[in-house]
Amino acid sequence: MRSATPPFAPRVREPGETAVIAIDGPAASGKSSTAHWVAERLGFRHIDSGALYRAATAAAMRRQPAGGWAEGFVLEAAADVRLLPNRTSFIAAIGGEPIDAEIRDAGVTQYVSLVARMPGVRAWVNELVRDAAKGSDVVVDGRDIGTVVFPGADLKVFLVADPWERARRRLTQRLERAPTDDEIAEETERLVQRDSRDATQTVQAADAVLIDTTYLTQEEQVERIVTLARVVLRREA
Ligand code: DC
Repeated sequence: MRSATPPFAPRVREPGETAVIAIDGPAASGKSSTAHWVAERLGFRHIDSGALYRAATAAAMRRQPAGGWAEGFVLEAAADVRLLPNRTSFIAAIGGEPIDAEIRDAGVTQYVSLVARMPGVRAWVNELVRDAAKGSDVVVDGRDIGTVVFPGADLKVFLVADPWERARRRLTQRLERAPTDDEIAEETERLVQRDSRDATQTVQAADAVLIDTTYLTQEEQVERIVTLARVVLRREA
């Protein structure tokens, strides 16, 4: 990671500096799974920054916020959250336990946008992510990675897709069958509402490569990003 330069200008890597690929985009745009595959292909580690907002929310829910969702209360609960490295990723954990299923449940999804708007929580997530990137080349996915967390990222990608198609993909994954049009319509409505709740944080960097995945397979989007990354990293070498 290094200071911001014009798009695609080769960057001079200081000794010991790690490479960062930022993948941003709205909910259900396929950021996390794409980022995971890209990291595997490049031998980088994947960081899902949204998982940290979800982990902070889950940690607060475990303590049952009777008096409402005060920022101080959420930050205190989040003190138990860590990013643990494995071969290909950093995994969010509460009290040392990986918590992937818990952070994807409907309760966490309902409250996470509220938590993600808290400035102290955003600063806490950004610090954990930047610390993790000090020791590894990383692919980080989120909403503001290319604008706020790593404005000097080696490559920035902004993924978008038609809301109906995003809803269809999400339901197909969740239900493990083809969803009906009525089901897709209801999910589209929910997704668009989530988009509007997260709109302030979801920002495309001026020097990001916009990829519309509506008509791409996941293999095709991964291939594009890997190719872009290889060109950028080769130029920097
Ligand atoms: O991508 P996701 O659905 O797992 O994200 C969970 C929440 O965290 C969602 O409300 C958007 C928010 N988020 C954010 O504000 N900034 C990020 N860098 C990543 C996620």
